[in-house]
Amino acid sequence: MARLKAEWLVPKPPAFTAAQAMAIGTAGYTAMLCVMALEAHGVTPSSGPVLVTGAVGGVGSVAIALLARLGYAVHASTGRREEEAYLKSLGASEVIDRAELSGKARPLAKEHWAGAVDSVGSTTLANVLASISYGGCVAACGLAQGMDLPGSVAPFILRGITLAGIDSVMAPRSKRIEAWSRLASDLDLTKLAAMTVTRPVADVVALAPEILAGKIRGRVVLDMG
Ligand SMILES: NC(=O)c1ccc[n+]([C@@H]2O[C@H](COP(=O)([O-])OP(=O)(O)OC[C@H]3O[C@@H](n4cnc5c(N)ncnc54)[C@H](OP(=O)(O)O)[C@@H]3O)[C@@H](O)[C@H]2O)c1
Repeated sequence: MARLKAEWLVPKPPAFTAAQAMAIGTAGYTAMLCVMALEAHGVTPSSGPVLVTGAVGGVGSVAIALLARLGYAVHASTGRREEEAYLKSLGASEVIDRAELSGKARPLAKEHWAGAVDSVGSTTLANVLASISYGGCVAACGLAQGMDLPGSVAPFILRGITLAGIDSVMAPRSKRIEAWSRLASDLDLTKLAAMTVTRPVADVVALAPEILAGKIRGRVVLDMG
């Protein structure tokens, strides 16, 4: 039994088992918040391709599956080119090497993407911002590469783009409920299963260095049984 503040809780949509809800977890729910932010800022499938960084990670994997299901052309950026088939199975139409985005950013680059879901931050986010087409939007939720943002204001003042910050923890309850409801309608459960492995809770100590080394693909559910 756990006693919690009522406003911390959201009902589990009936579409999901408890295990599926855990497979989605904070990462998948955050990916949904990112997609909702792109929509709120007017990025539609007809706007052009959308980039997902940190693509093989939890946020990235769910974001690809959601965006593909919603009809977006999804480009995935990863350091693991060996996972290209996995990323394409989730719905990515193009896979790029994250090294293309991790160097020093120019103020503006060629307009590549109408929007992006970024879980990486740092020079990657700066390069992504410089490559967003006029009026586009980047939903920034993570810091896998770093917490800094070494870019310029040029994409904002010359291309009118938007940087939408995503916070999962303090998001209002109504938004959390909306995100879980959208996951129930927009997440392909076959793809969720393909990005999830279940491991016994006793494995958690061995898993930690794998997570830090970026070797985990998608999501890991811990079986407490
Ligand atoms: N704002 C929020 O409320 C919120 C909620 C959830 C998570 N987050 C943050 O979002 C980020 C992603 O979470 P996650 O659960 O998806 O983590 P994850 O499963 O560990 O995935 C992170 C991915 O980032 C990429 N990456 C790691 N190190 C990198 C580097 N040095 N340079 C470029 N890319 C790198 C890797 O993707 P590839 O192998 O494909 O390159 C990795 O799989 C984390 O920073 C997390 O703290 C924030």
